[in-house]
Amino acid sequence: MIGQSGLSFAVVGATGAVGREMLDLLHARGVPRESVSAFASPRSAGLRLPYGVQEIVIEALDTESLADIDIALFSAGSSISKQFARTAAARGTVIIDNSSAFRMDADVPLIVPEINADALAGGAPGRIIAVPNCSTIITLMAVTPIHRLRGVERMVVSTYQAVSGAGAAAIDELRRQAREVLDGLEPTCRVFAQPCAFNVFSHNTPIGADGSNVEESKMVNETRKIWGDESVRIAATCIRVPVFRAHSASINLTLRRPVDDLDEVRHAIAEFPGVAVVDDRAGNRFPTPLEASGRDEVLVGRLRLDTSQMDERGRCRGLSLFASGDQLRKGAALNAVQIADLLVSHAAV
Ligand SMILES: NC(=O)c1ccc[n+]([C@@H]2O[C@H](COP(=O)([O-])OP(=O)(O)OC[C@H]3O[C@@H](n4cnc5c(N)ncnc54)[C@H](OP(=O)(O)O)[C@@H]3O)[C@@H](O)[C@H]2O)c1
Repeated sequence: MIGQSGLSFAVVGATGAVGREMLDLLHARGVPRESVSAFASPRSAGLRLPYGVQEIVIEALDTESLADIDIALFSAGSSISKQFARTAAARGTVIIDNSSAFRMDADVPLIVPEINADALAGGAPGRIIAVPNCSTIITLMAVTPIHRLRGVERMVVSTYQAVSGAGAAAIDELRRQAREVLDGLEPTCRVFAQPCAFNVFSHNTPIGADGSNVEESKMVNETRKIWGDESVRIAATCIRVPVFRAHSASINLTLRRPVDDLDEVRHAIAEFPGVAVVDDRAGNRFPTPLEASGRDEVLVGRLRLDTSQMDERGRCRGLSLFASGDQLRKGAALNAVQIADLLVSHAAV
């Protein structure tokens, strides 16, 4: 659809872990090379990246870069988004922003197309649309079908987040440190404050006054905004693990209405767009980040009734599950490109 739109696209942060995925996705949707501009920092100006079998030359981003762009996909960090996005939007460019800069702004829709596409209604050129945090997207893709079926009253989620969530340099860090450790050397830390190879640690975002890190607070606040439900209670623990790509989440739910038939839950998840059920008890095969890597679908499984949560009438209101999803794709680039798809199909750009 966007491939035949005739619109002009920009990827801001095109050399990054997310930006490269965006270029791949635009190419896969048939957007012609001439309709795409790719921007990064002045350090990368002149660099050539593949665009299918063609190449695209990186330009340094400046205040005039987006003047003729219809849709700009931003993934260069929140400070770059804050510096450039509002001005470009005021000039008529639609900004789809992967950073946290505007997610909680009242005038900015926070969109996961499968979940709250309706929040895009009434779109117009020259506005900002935010892509939620990656672990929030992966978790909500798994949980929203259950929320629609039985209502989620409370969610306890623990994440297992890939290093690529911290960008391209963090992928290099895990690769380098793994070699160093196996060679009997001390791992050198450049991106993370502590070794990521053969280690697991609390998410590398700052910790607030309540002891939650920023990633955990995003999970709470963004979920409420996406679901339009301020009453849902969430306890999140966000952890970095030595995985290159794809975030996972262990999720325990308290449901508003009891559930006694897991097949009904499994069916609701399987019917939800963008989700695949991987729940093979006999084979002990459930979602893994390796299997989720490079896939568009979020994998969901390990579905269990949580019988520690029975109500006064002996009915189960607890459910446990596990999900893995490629956070560079569905958690970022794919979600952004799907928003562009929606805008084009609604003729809202
Ligand atoms: N990684 C994920 O899984 C993920 C998921 C969801 C959201 N996000 C968000 O997406 C954004 C990018 O993340 P990433 O993981 O792709 O990071 P990354 O790999 O570190 O890439 C950062 C990009 O920003 C560019 N950049 C830096 N300074 C710039 C400047 N002054 N002007 C223009 N471009 C500049 C970099 O260009 P140079 O190469 O020239 O430095 C690079 O293209 C962040 O806001 C992040 O929070 C990431």
